[in-house]
Amino acid sequence: MYYPEDVIRDVRERTDIVNLVSGYVSLQKKGSNYFGCCPFHNEKTPSFSVNTKEQFFYCFGCHKGGNVITFLMEMENLTFPEAIKELADRAGVTLPEAELSPEEKRRIEARTRLYDMNREAARFFYYQLAKTEGGAHARAYLKERGVTDAYAKRFGLGYAPIGSASLYRYLSAKGYTTEEMEKARLVSVRGNRVYDYFFNRLMFPIFNTAGQTIAFGGRVMGQGEPKYLNSPETEVFNKRRNLYAMQLAKKSHRKEALMVEGYMDVLSLHQAGFDNAVASLGTALTQEQALLIKRYYNDVVLIYDSDRAGTQAARRGIPILEQAGLKVRVLRVPGAKDPDEFLKQNPPEAFQALIDQAMNPIDFEMRVLEEENDTQTADGRVLTVNGMAERLAEIESDLERQIHVQDTAEKLKVDPALLAKKVEEVRRTTGLLERRQNGRTRQEEQGLRTDARMQLLGVMIHRQDLIPLLERFISQEDLKGPEGAQDLYAAVAESLFHHQAEHTEVQKADLISLADRPEDQEKIAHLVQMQLPEERDDLEKLLTETVRAVKRRALEERLARLSAEENATAEDLRSMQDIIYERKSLETLRIQLPGSGGQQPEGGTVL
Ligand code: CTP
Ligand code: MN
Repeated sequence: MYYPEDVIRDVRERTDIVNLVSGYVSLQKKGSNYFGCCPFHNEKTPSFSVNTKEQFFYCFGCHKGGNVITFLMEMENLTFPEAIKELADRAGVTLPEAELSPEEKRRIEARTRLYDMNREAARFFYYQLAKTEGGAHARAYLKERGVTDAYAKRFGLGYAPIGSASLYRYLSAKGYTTEEMEKARLVSVRGNRVYDYFFNRLMFPIFNTAGQTIAFGGRVMGQGEPKYLNSPETEVFNKRRNLYAMQLAKKSHRKEALMVEGYMDVLSLHQAGFDNAVASLGTALTQEQALLIKRYYNDVVLIYDSDRAGTQAARRGIPILEQAGLKVRVLRVPGAKDPDEFLKQNPPEAFQALIDQAMNPIDFEMRVLEEENDTQTADGRVLTVNGMAERLAEIESDLERQIHVQDTAEKLKVDPALLAKKVEEVRRTTGLLERRQNGRTRQEEQGLRTDARMQLLGVMIHRQDLIPLLERFISQEDLKGPEGAQDLYAAVAESLFHHQAEHTEVQKADLISLADRPEDQEKIAHLVQMQLPEERDDLEKLLTETVRAVKRRALEERLARLSAEENATAEDLRSMQDIIYERKSLETLRIQLPGSGGQQPEGGTVL
């Protein structure tokens, strides 16, 4: 758009889509395409496809689709020029100076200032902690919790002072406006007064993987609610897409990531030498976070507090991590509430031993069920077996499922064949359920199907050889939408007709670049991914019907325009008559593809 088109194409062609997507999704080859679980919606069975030939992705579940540029924009929440730049860097392409639109320039500048301001805020908090009188009790608190100066520094810990607008004054002096500070959620404005968002708290800055400061978590020292106060989401802080300490953990040489619950757990673990620990940001683990881990690790150990809430969180977290393609093990800290507490009482080697013994998710589930149900009673055992059947049913690989069924049956002392039968039963019923959930409503389905214009464009994209034939009935004009509407499909039609006139083929990935907005790109992706009927008869029928419908609508619009004309000329009246005649003739219009049987006029069409 603001880079020359050939540069964009160059970047696109030098980026291997499978390679790019694999950084986020675990893909499996099927035929010439790749499949995986969609990173844009939550699913268990893969409906996300990567088409290597067309360098294109498409999700059959949520209908997102696009090329390498759109993929990166979506995944990393980037603007178009940012995505181009990133891909160019990776591919070693030097970009000419981009001509940014004023809008894009403004957005990038505003964002850069947000990052800078957050860094200034972190510096301010750090100074308050390290150097001021007011920070003395925060220093004492850290000392009491066993945090060394070196680690307080490594994590950029700070102290938000008691004053109600200290940060506000500091940032004002640095030239930031109240509006900017409010946007970063560092202050809040009430009436004509401005208050710091955080005061009298121990501050944990939160960084993205690039090391930019994006938010803060603040802990009360002593009594007070809430114990932890986190920055609300801002333009640069998306809780779902970031993990606490990932900027450090991504550099670790350890084999597996450690996923824990709390900031203090992360700190204590790093200090004990486990520089692979990360935590979510005060919310349940998300799919985006799982994919973020997968970018740097293939294995993860889920470490949860040994209370009930922790157990439930682990249960919910496991499938999310597994869907990201991670190998998951679960660790419950014995004799302590959390890793931080454990490390106060035990040496790092003891924690390493726990990691080595971490359970696979199936064994974890068995242990949880056995604790929930009284396995001394028959009822309790039935509940446990049923619960295990449901869990085992979730294992997608037949081989793994069989092995775990066998193993579980032995441990629970039940007949393996019986358990296997039960598992298959569960699979049949939940399989149905899932399909129903993924399926769109009938109304949505019809909306997509009945749009004849879309169907027709879809055929034209796939069978560009048929455009000369279709041009006899349909003009570019006919494919325009209602007047005034921002018309994406007209742009696609224009491109198709243009290439036809030039005797060139439209590249499908190029069509995507016709749209700026992701939702529009999805619509084009939908066209590109459309399946054509395989039987020639069916294709002819489809073409006949769609051409009729599109033409009829175009004619009716033209007619309506002419009838609305106040001073209709004789010429207009003649046109109206022509249109009415043409509309009538549509009823007998048939489209036949070249080479169909029977004798037809040249070009293989009859009217
Ligand atoms: N948390 C939060 N808001 C709260 C409480 C907790 O966002 N009101 C998040 C924080 O990220 C915190 C994590 O949940 O680190 C775990 O909470 P909790 O187990 O209560 O605290 P600990 O991490 O054990 O903190 P500490 O050891 O400092 O008490
Ligand atoms: Mn704790």
